[in-house]
Amino acid sequence: MSVDLFTPITLGKLELPNRVVMAPLTRNRAGEGNVPTDLNAEYYRQRASAGLIISEATQVSPGGVGYPATPGIHSPEQVAGWRKLTDAVHGAGGRMFCQLWYCGRISHPSMLNGKLPVAPSAIRPEGEAMTWEGPQPFVTPKALTEKEIEHIIGEYGRAARLAREAGFDGVEVHAANGYLIDQFLRDGSNRREDRWGGALENRSRFLMRVLDTVFEAWRPEEVGVRISPENRFNSMDDSDPATTFDYVAHQLGGLGLAYLHVLEGDMLSGERALDYRHLRDTFGGTYMANNGYDLERARAALANGDADLVAFGRLYIANPDLVARFREGTPLNEPDPETFYGGDAHGYTDYPFIEEETVGA
Ligand code: PHB
Repeated sequence: MSVDLFTPITLGKLELPNRVVMAPLTRNRAGEGNVPTDLNAEYYRQRASAGLIISEATQVSPGGVGYPATPGIHSPEQVAGWRKLTDAVHGAGGRMFCQLWYCGRISHPSMLNGKLPVAPSAIRPEGEAMTWEGPQPFVTPKALTEKEIEHIIGEYGRAARLAREAGFDGVEVHAANGYLIDQFLRDGSNRREDRWGGALENRSRFLMRVLDTVFEAWRPEEVGVRISPENRFNSMDDSDPATTFDYVAHQLGGLGLAYLHVLEGDMLSGERALDYRHLRDTFGGTYMANNGYDLERARAALANGDADLVAFGRLYIANPDLVARFREGTPLNEPDPETFYGGDAHGYTDYPFIEEETVGA
């Protein structure tokens, strides 16, 4: 039987009714104290027909923050906010993972009470940080000491435990898009000469150690990992992405993870040169493809065995009932980039469902 988007799939003990995943999407609408709000809960509840929802990137500690109004998973208030939100998603029949995030050098002193952002090496990214005062040039980050690295690993562990208290079904470790774990993985941002840099074994040590502590709170089959081997976003590069991520995929393949989530190619241009089928085969487990997929490409990827799940970002911003629209072949709402980052319910919870369009038509 050929697999399509509506073929159920099991991740560990979790049964997904379809393979349409809501990708993690930063929307900058968390409340005071970076606490998830009732409006955030409504937004995710509307999208509960996804096979799986992955939360927007969520900082594991105050030091992990990099953008205004992104949620955290480190305070009791945040856990309570997430609990209301996961209850809303579960009440609507959905399943949801929490994406664990630490921005590292992509942050700015004005987001960190004047402290320097941290990174594996003191290499300043090109471009601008997003702050409450508007865009500001990135600064040269402080290279982490080994002690500080251990401390941050501990923060991931605590956040993973809190994600369980908050009612999530699993967690996704964000190792993509130029944030802290990715800064360790790729040699453009990691020039360390200790056991956290240099050889692939060393560059992937931070990710593997984070996973070890996450596994104290979650079974491996409840944990996903997101990588982005070729994404240049956030000033990232690697001298040999094929070899680097072949190694990473191979290491991750032995852990029994829920899935490997791959942002294929470059996030902004869509250019891709790597052989993702090879990466998928190297990993060997459940593979979630992402980056610019539409219905046709998603169907082809599943039918060819190039992917087991497909995560949709922009399409999920504008189409809370994306699963029904795909199933029925209904035209899609167009996302409005003006309302992607920050703001209120407009461009967030007011995209119409199919029924609303047909009522009065
Ligand atoms: C963003 O805010 O643009 C953003 C955040 C997290 C990502 C990618 C992009 O992984």
